[in-house]
Amino acid sequence: MSGTDVGALEQFPVNGVRKVTVGSVDIAVVRIADDVYALADTCSHAQVSLSEGEVWCDELELECPKHGSAFSLTTGEPSTLPATQPVAVYTARVVDGRVVVDVEPQEVTS
Ligand code: FES
Repeated sequence: MSGTDVGALEQFPVNGVRKVTVGSVDIAVVRIADDVYALADTCSHAQVSLSEGEVWCDELELECPKHGSAFSLTTGEPSTLPATQPVAVYTARVVDGRVVVDVEPQEVTS
């Protein structure tokens, strides 16, 4: 199975975000209830850590703490300015109570 174990699910705040590093890649892992999402941790607008931001559970978005752009947890696209570029999205899942993140590029299916 591919992916990297980044810790027990219980180590991630419910309806919150925590930064993890896999290799040289910083990742913001968002937990909503028992679902997990993973985005590149650095905002696409400036060098700011998105894991310092706020999770919008209903919208499935993560708000940048600096200027407030909100990034989709599923596509990485910002829904609000000033950011205009998406951040990378990684595959994240819970396996036997552990959070597993795959930092390999996602395969494009057509
Ligand atoms: S640094 Fe994130 S929106 Fe400006």
